[in-house]
Amino acid sequence: MPKITFWGHACFSLEDEGKGTLLFDPFLRENPLAPIKPEEARADYILVSHAHLDHIGEAHEIAEANLATIISTPEIATQAQDEDLKAHPLNVGGKHSFPFGWVKATQALHSAGIPGGTPCGFVVHYHGKNIYFAGDTGLFSDMKLIGELTPLDLALLPIGDNYTMGIDDAVVAASFLGAPLVIPYHYNTWEIVAADPEEFKQKMEKETSAKCVIIAPGESHTF
Ligand code: NI
Ligand code: MN
Repeated sequence: MPKITFWGHACFSLEDEGKGTLLFDPFLRENPLAPIKPEEARADYILVSHAHLDHIGEAHEIAEANLATIISTPEIATQAQDEDLKAHPLNVGGKHSFPFGWVKATQALHSAGIPGGTPCGFVVHYHGKNIYFAGDTGLFSDMKLIGELTPLDLALLPIGDNYTMGIDDAVVAASFLGAPLVIPYHYNTWEIVAADPEEFKQKMEKETSAKCVIIAPGESHTF
């Protein structure tokens, strides 16, 4: 069964007993909540939602050390390729198959952090399970379509407000997506994104039939 591990802020890894490890938004060195250093990160693929430092983080050095492939929007992928790193460009709405399954880039209401770029989220089909990683985004009603097109097993949603959805909008997002399992992120890294994940859990489980699992940095959940 796939295992999701939270590394603090918006960084997760997804793995399933040697079937290839996916690492999302690897911001570790300056992440006060990260329990590991970039040198300890393991990945076969690194998915980068946008180029803000708290998302692209140490993607380049981890890709180089692990011979991993960066999957991101064309502007970010090209920048990686210019440094002789392996990268696959994927733009919003596009899907591509990989040995573990496929990745589709989704819309995100945010800024890109790179000239000419677009922020994104990802729907990942990983060894039979469908996972939505929202990236940094505000709430948008087409999240309904994301869940309709790909019935989700797990949704990862930001709840810290200020730069992304806050708790109340994330509850609406969870109801739009229809995933049976939701894990919050992008909270409590700094005061400006302070949020109580227990409040999110309570509200979301009252408003939807989904279950919320709160993972502390360094901990995992199998699903
Ligand atoms: Ni951002
Ligand atoms: Mn962010």
